[in-house]
Amino acid sequence: MTHLLSLETMSADDMRQVLELAAHLKATRADQTFQPLAGQTWAMIFMKASTRTRVSFEVGVQELGGRVLYLNATDTQLGRKEPIKDTARVLGRMVHGAIIRTFAQQDIVDFAHYSQLPTINALTDDEHPCQVLADLLTMIERCGGYQGKKVVFMGDGDNNMSKSWMWAAEKLDFQLVICAPPAYQPTASYLARFKSGNITCEPDPAEAVAGADVLYTDVWVSMGMEEETQKRLADLAPWQINSALTTKAAPDAIVMHCLPAYRGQEISEECLEAHAGTIFQEAENRLHAQKAILTLLGSPAGQISG
Ligand code: CP
Ligand code: NVA
Repeated sequence: MTHLLSLETMSADDMRQVLELAAHLKATRADQTFQPLAGQTWAMIFMKASTRTRVSFEVGVQELGGRVLYLNATDTQLGRKEPIKDTARVLGRMVHGAIIRTFAQQDIVDFAHYSQLPTINALTDDEHPCQVLADLLTMIERCGGYQGKKVVFMGDGDNNMSKSWMWAAEKLDFQLVICAPPAYQPTASYLARFKSGNITCEPDPAEAVAGADVLYTDVWVSMGMEEETQKRLADLAPWQINSALTTKAAPDAIVMHCLPAYRGQEISEECLEAHAGTIFQEAENRLHAQKAILTLLGSPAGQISG
């Protein structure tokens, strides 16, 4: 594994390796002698807001012995349109790895190419791979595994989270049902890229959740889509995860949410609080999953490319 740019480009073996190492690092977190990033500085370039991703990466790099440099649009020349390929070539000569949250997927692809640094996708408009790896760790802990399970992704079925879930289902062999109105389903050409038969669309929430092991949701208005807020809230209202819907899933079904949650929109207050144990375990697992990713990508201290 050289980079983590998407689950689309990540192999199933690499996903399994991350999950195995994440469970080990979680169980041995108190052991502070494991410092694979000692002597390294990782840049965190965040062009969108973040709580969980920022904190879990900052803590994760530090627990592994490294340092972080948090960079955003306001305080860097990226906000004044300096090209990503120039920023990449500068950072490539100074730091050891990069963690990037931005809009266009192509920007992180370009960054990885021009910087020659191990590069991690911390969310783009296309994918949120670190979140789904943490979610899979949570499924292992809560459901005993993911293989053969049925996951229902409710709400905006055509966003970064649903897409990372689709690639995970394709490669790790579980059933994923996208439950969304037609305008919020993945396009036919995107769906045509999946060959496993593991991914289906079912617009009817009651039909979709029948026998489901996991009900999953995400915000209805992703970052960058704020102008569509009123339309999205109206269009997606019937696709809320609430207590009435969860009774139609498998009796021991879990509810998951990547957070932040908007109560009364994609999930009811009652349902979120009833499943808070799982949902905040998911948030914690961001730290463990990302420490595994950082460990696997971290280059030996002192090796600077460029
Ligand atoms: N789930 C997630 O990525 O949260 P943040 O936007 O707070 O990082
Ligand atoms: N789809 C959401 C995920 C937030 C973690 C967004 O992009 O805003």
